[in-house]
Amino acid sequence: MQVLSVASECVPLIKTGGLADVAGALPLALAAEGVRMRTLLPAYRGVAERLSAPRVTPMDTPFGPVRLLEGEAAGLDLIAIEAPALYDRPGGPYTGPDRADWPDNAARFGLLGWMGARIGAQGLGGWRPQVVHAHDWQAGLVPTYLRLAGESRGAGEGADMPGSVVTIHNIAFQGLFGPETLAPLGLPEALFHPDHVEFHGQVGFLKAGLAHADRITTVSPTYARELLTPEFGWGLDGLLRHRAGALEGVLNGIDTELWNPATDPDLARPYRAPAGKRANREALAERLGLRLDPAAPLFCVISRMTRQKGLDLLLEAAPALLEEGAGLAVLGSGDADLEAGFGRLAAAHPGRIACVIGYDEPLAHRMQAGSDAILVPSRFEPCGLTQLCGLRYGTAPVVARTGGLADTVIDANEAALRTGAATGFVHDPDSAPALEQAIRRACALHRRPEAWRALVRAALRAPVGWGESAARYAAIYRDLAAPV
Ligand code: ADP
Ligand code: GLC
Repeated sequence: MQVLSVASECVPLIKTGGLADVAGALPLALAAEGVRMRTLLPAYRGVAERLSAPRVTPMDTPFGPVRLLEGEAAGLDLIAIEAPALYDRPGGPYTGPDRADWPDNAARFGLLGWMGARIGAQGLGGWRPQVVHAHDWQAGLVPTYLRLAGESRGAGEGADMPGSVVTIHNIAFQGLFGPETLAPLGLPEALFHPDHVEFHGQVGFLKAGLAHADRITTVSPTYARELLTPEFGWGLDGLLRHRAGALEGVLNGIDTELWNPATDPDLARPYRAPAGKRANREALAERLGLRLDPAAPLFCVISRMTRQKGLDLLLEAAPALLEEGAGLAVLGSGDADLEAGFGRLAAAHPGRIACVIGYDEPLAHRMQAGSDAILVPSRFEPCGLTQLCGLRYGTAPVVARTGGLADTVIDANEAALRTGAATGFVHDPDSAPALEQAIRRACALHRRPEAWRALVRAALRAPVGWGESAARYAAIYRDLAAPV
């Protein structure tokens, strides 16, 4: 089975969030299922240098001449689109150094979708995928361009097109652009219609993908249901209800080699058992200047700082955490007011609360290892990966009951504690009092060392890898590739 994955970010080359983790881990997990997955991504600044001895194919596109670089990096089979005028610049993949969206994002990701469809329809150097798997709005035009390519071939030949899958990692980001982008994108006027690419007078990249893909997936079963509601569907719930038969939630996993407390090179002391966390907690406290009560838990946060993540609720609930005698370590960056809020909180409680603004992967590993619990109070969370890393590191997740958080953490209620099933704490979303209560429940259980150790052991046993989900994706691809 041959599959082309089309993504705007991919670990270890370029990452702004969990999408990169998923795009980087899935090909490795799928290899065990007999799927060869190649990954198409833009050659942002620095990407080309990471490919070992790439094969170069020049190509003309509606977006100008480009070069395709086929090479390997970190075990991934990559195809990078080299188009310096679009991708070779400082800043992030979506925004400039001033944090504003790049003004030419329609062309930058139009090209990504166009190229995904072009390789899908015509192959590259004799290789042709049976399925093209597009991630999020940045790759959302793949199914539309595939459809156009199929139509231009006419009946008979058009049947020989690859299947398409679109995965929604976060419907809050939709890739909306003005109608004037239609022509430069090479999209016919007739497609500017609510049944196709139009979304309230704009060209919607994700909308187009959801309208035209053969199959739609999202990253947890609960989010798949939530997406059908006006509250979570961000205006696309009607279309998704219409396409509900093609929609499925497939839970994300994490790379359990990269996230392995027994072998993690970033840790002060790698560990397997709950007791092994102590030395890591001491090392973390020293690094962050925390002076903690050994009997009280240390909570952590590792997150983008945006409204989605509900961290403003944590600022409200912080007094309760302090009252319980607990500590807090925060790592993240994003909205200026949240950064400032946590900065002020840490300054007001030195030794008890530490805040590191920035993006720091080794520190993220050390915080997972050294903390007793990880807080993820998101208002919505398609899947969430940090709670999975928390489980893997025996760090009890305290999470809002939404999306993938609800699917991956078993609340420590009496029944779950008695059967030994509990792995964390689950609270009502979007409520500071509910978060506060969950923090208090965690602190109370932490005061019962035997019960706490049992919960940590259950967390360490929780399945967080790709096994079942990789098999599910492989089944979807096989379905699509089967001759009709
Ligand atoms: P999202 O994609 O919505 O940001 P996820 O939980 O799916 O949320 O993925 C976030 C990923 O980014 C995780 O791998 C997490 O460890 C990582 N991460 C987030 N913030 C930071 C940070 N400040 N430093 C290091 N890693 C971070
Ligand atoms: C998005 C979501 C997050 C999910 C990630 C990977 O960034 O916000 O919940 O884990 O994609 O699928």
